[in-house]
Amino acid sequence: MRNTGPDRVLVVDDEKTNRRVLGDLLKEDHTVLLARDGEQALRQAAGDPPPDLILLDVLMPDMDGYEVLRRLKADVDTSHIPVMFVTGLTDEADEQKGLDLGAVDYVSKPFRPAVIRARVRNQLELKHHRAELLQAEKMAALAHLVAGVAHEINTPVGTTLTAASHILDQTGALERQLADGSLRRSDLRAYLESVRDAAELVQSNTNRTASLIGSFREVAVDQTQDERRGFDLCAYLHEAGDSLRPRLERAGHAIRVACDETIPCDSYPAALFRILSHLVDNATAHAYAEGEAGTLAIAGRRVDDGTAEIVFSDTGCGMDAGDRERAFEPFYTNRRGEGHSGLGLHIVFNLVTRILGGSVGLHSTPGEGTTVRLRLPTTVDAGAGRG
Ligand SMILES: Nc1ncnc2c1ncn2[C@@H]1O[C@H](COP(=O)(O)OP(=O)(O)OP(=O)(O)O)[C@@H](O)[C@H]1O
Ligand SMILES: [Mg+2]
Repeated sequence: MRNTGPDRVLVVDDEKTNRRVLGDLLKEDHTVLLARDGEQALRQAAGDPPPDLILLDVLMPDMDGYEVLRRLKADVDTSHIPVMFVTGLTDEADEQKGLDLGAVDYVSKPFRPAVIRARVRNQLELKHHRAELLQAEKMAALAHLVAGVAHEINTPVGTTLTAASHILDQTGALERQLADGSLRRSDLRAYLESVRDAAELVQSNTNRTASLIGSFREVAVDQTQDERRGFDLCAYLHEAGDSLRPRLERAGHAIRVACDETIPCDSYPAALFRILSHLVDNATAHAYAEGEAGTLAIAGRRVDDGTAEIVFSDTGCGMDAGDRERAFEPFYTNRRGEGHSGLGLHIVFNLVTRILGGSVGLHSTPGEGTTVRLRLPTTVDAGAGRG
C-alpha cells in the first residue's frame, strides 16, 4: 500500500555543499535525510521506517559508494531500497559497475536540478508500483489458498452431513415401525447394516477433515510448538533416518543416511523432522509403482562455517517439467481424490524458508529420481522462526 506521508530520500555525500544542494533541491517534495559517510548511511538505511530511495556518492573516504551498495544489498532488511548513484565519476566503466551492483540509476555531476528531481520522482513512482504489485500478488495467493481450503474441506464435510442425515432418517423410520408394531427382525438387521455403513463414512470423513485441518495449520507454520535448541545435525539425521525406517520398510523401501562430520546447529530440529517426513511420504506415495522397491538417501554436509546442506533423494520415477515447476504451489497434486491435497511440498517450503531461514531446490527428471536440496544456516537468526 502507498505511504501517505512524503517519501524519505537519504542523501549520502562526504561534501557538505553537495549534501546541501541536493537536500535543498528535494526537500520541497520529500523528507530528506543526510549522511556524510558510508557508516552513517548504513545506519540510516537500517532505520525504521527505512528511506524510500538513497542518493549515493561514489568517492568517499573510508567506505566508497560501491561498498555501501554492496552492504545494503547483502542485508535482507535493506536490499530492497533503491539506490541511485550521484557522482563526479563520468567514466562508462564506473557507471557500468554501479548498475551491475544493482543501482537503479546513475547520474553524473554536475547535474541539472530539474533532471535530478524528475529522476528521483520516477524512481519513487517505480518503487510504489512494485510495492502495489507485490501486495496484489499476495492478495491473489491468499485468495487461492482460501479457495483451496474451502474446496478440499467441502467433500468430506458434505459426505459426513449426508451420512449423518441418513442415520437420522433410518432411525426415524425404525422408531415408527416400533411404534406401530410393524417392525420385523429383517428390518432391524437392515437398519443395523445401513447405520453401521453410514457411521463408518462419518468416521472416515471426519478423520479426513481433521487431517486436512492439521495440514492447513502446518501451512500457516504455527511453530510455537517447536523448541529451538542446540544439536549436532549429523547425529540428528541418523536418528531421523532410524525413526523413518520402519514406515519405509513396511512399504518395501530402504533408507540410507550419509553424514560423518560434526555439524553443530542451533535451530528447530522438529521442523527439520517434519520436512524429512513429508519428503519420505512423497517418495513412498509418488516415486515408486505398487510393489516396486526403492532406495531413499539423506546426505548431510557442512558447506561453510554458517551453512549446512541436506540432500534428500529417491531413485524413483522423477517428475516432468510441469510437475516440477508447480510442485511447491499449495494444492498442486496429480493425485487429487486419492487422499492427497497437494500441501506437502508447500509446507516443506514454508518450514525451510520461514522457520529454518534456509532455501530449497528441487531437481527431478523423469526416470531418474528426485533430489531435494536444502541449504540451512546452522544458527537460525533471531528473525526466523517467528513466521
Ligand atoms: N519424490 C517424488 N517423486 C515423484 N513425484 C513427486 C515426488 N514428490 C512430489 N512429487 C509430485 O509433486 C506433487 C506435489 O507434492 P506435494 O507433497 O506438495 O503434494 P501431494 O504429495 O500430492 O499431496 P499431500 O502432500 O498433501 O499428500 C505430487 O502430487 C507429485 O506429483
Ligand atoms: Mg506430499
